[in-house]
Amino acid sequence: MNNEWWQKGTVYQIYPRSFYDTNGDGIGDIRGIIEKLDYLAKLGVDLLWLTPMYVSPQRDNGYDIADYFNIDPQYGTMADFDELLEKAHQRGLKIMMDMVVNHTSYQHHWFQEALKGEDNPYRDYYIWKDPAADGGPPNNWLSKFSGSAWELDAASGQYYLHLYEVGMPDLNWENPKLQEEIYNMMAWWGEKGIDGFRLDVINNISKNPDFPNDSLATAQDDGRKFYVDGPHVHEYLHQMNRHVFDKYGLVTVGEMSSTTPEQCIKYTNPEREELSMAFNFHHMKVDYPGGKKWASAKFQLTDLKRVMTEWQLKMAAGGGWNALFWTNHDQPRALARFANDTVYREQSAKLLAIILFGLQGTTFIYQGEEIAMTDANFTDISQYDDAESRNAYAHLLADGVTAADALQILREKSRENARIPMQWDDTPHHGFTSGEPWLAPIHEDNWTVDKALANPDSIFYTYQHLIALRREHAIFANGDFRLLDAESEVIYDYAREWQNEALVVVGNFSEKEMAWHVPAQYQNKDCAILASNYGRETLENQVTLQPYEALMLHLK
Ligand code: GLC
Ligand code: CA
Repeated sequence: MNNEWWQKGTVYQIYPRSFYDTNGDGIGDIRGIIEKLDYLAKLGVDLLWLTPMYVSPQRDNGYDIADYFNIDPQYGTMADFDELLEKAHQRGLKIMMDMVVNHTSYQHHWFQEALKGEDNPYRDYYIWKDPAADGGPPNNWLSKFSGSAWELDAASGQYYLHLYEVGMPDLNWENPKLQEEIYNMMAWWGEKGIDGFRLDVINNISKNPDFPNDSLATAQDDGRKFYVDGPHVHEYLHQMNRHVFDKYGLVTVGEMSSTTPEQCIKYTNPEREELSMAFNFHHMKVDYPGGKKWASAKFQLTDLKRVMTEWQLKMAAGGGWNALFWTNHDQPRALARFANDTVYREQSAKLLAIILFGLQGTTFIYQGEEIAMTDANFTDISQYDDAESRNAYAHLLADGVTAADALQILREKSRENARIPMQWDDTPHHGFTSGEPWLAPIHEDNWTVDKALANPDSIFYTYQHLIALRREHAIFANGDFRLLDAESEVIYDYAREWQNEALVVVGNFSEKEMAWHVPAQYQNKDCAILASNYGRETLENQVTLQPYEALMLHLK
């Protein structure tokens, strides 16, 4: 039986930079998180995942770590962090650190040493190769941030690998000394009393030692098949588990890009002693035409259901554990993407919450989802701060896409959409800062935490209720999943079964009224409505679902 606290619990992701600023510099900070702990406790979440706040030149908002042992001054001090940890724990909230060990910042002292030449003891902490015969990069792998994944170091004439931003060199995990330094560093955080790690792009750490060229035939043939779920990754994670996770009782979630259910079962089946759970991103690619992210497209509900169902069924069959989410700091908001962020904004936010929270796995909420925040809706490239988005824009223009179309693509796809500051109240900048926010939306939006808290029917309380339900009823962690209608482009319905109980969840992903009926095998049972976004209190077997209506039924 799945009965761990984190299998019944919910994680709240904080993007500190955009959460709450207490000193008026326009950047959210640790003291801001401390001030909002009561708010988070009221929501009822179990665990706070904090995206990186370590010392960093911030070329990728902290995912480029220059010092793993210190807090970046723009977020506060280690004393602030210790206070956060203590005050969170007092409220029953656990803390999960974001840990990036696929790469460091180029400013990390290991890399600064490595740059001194091939004889330096730190040289081998990174991945260096001689140029190809034509003097160009050693192979044709592409960076996730556009262009080649290799950068020439003129002094030595060798290239270093950066699968991400050019200022983020990849670490060489084949080096046992590097492994040991990383495990010790993680243990240092374990000693401090943190409760878990979210492991950044962790399934990329083991590269194919031959570094072969890829075909570049499709958008996916960019080299990833040679480093995703690579040859030694399970070994490294098992070691990490033995040295750190198990020792400190940490809950862990791995960010797994371009992975498979088979691999994620290995990562998360407890018998293998690797991780607690895994994020996959296949459902985030249902609007990538031909696998291309930077293109405009609308998703099909049948694709979304197919992908989600595959992961529900396969992970359960293999004893793995999913991390469930609709968005995070790397994705646009889910509202416009999968439902509606205008006329049916409130209903859509609740619909997405109800659909996700009925599934098997650990549920994640990204800051602002609980008040139905929308995309940034930037209209000019100068408003974007994110390197990935800016690079993508430049490449779209170079490929002949018009500026207007490129901006439209960014408006749909840019991760910066989810990074605009939290909307706390009606004061200037929504109470996020008394200064100028580091990133500002141009649209006025009066949906705020204050208003959500004051309205007992708000989306905030839908989440609060769903979080409590998952803790209360064992069926959420244990029920067998069955998709009901695979064909409909409008209705998303599924059942979960466990012992003598069932959950039935249905959502209408359209603006039209839709006829729906309780599946025949459940019609004669006792039916309780666990969640409804239209305030339904009773139910006939035949229902006319309203626009974006969702229901969660409990049958016995
Ligand atoms: C992960 C992070 C993302 C970052 C990348 C490189 O995908 O979530 O924000 O840019 O890794 O560290
Ligand atoms: Ca600040």
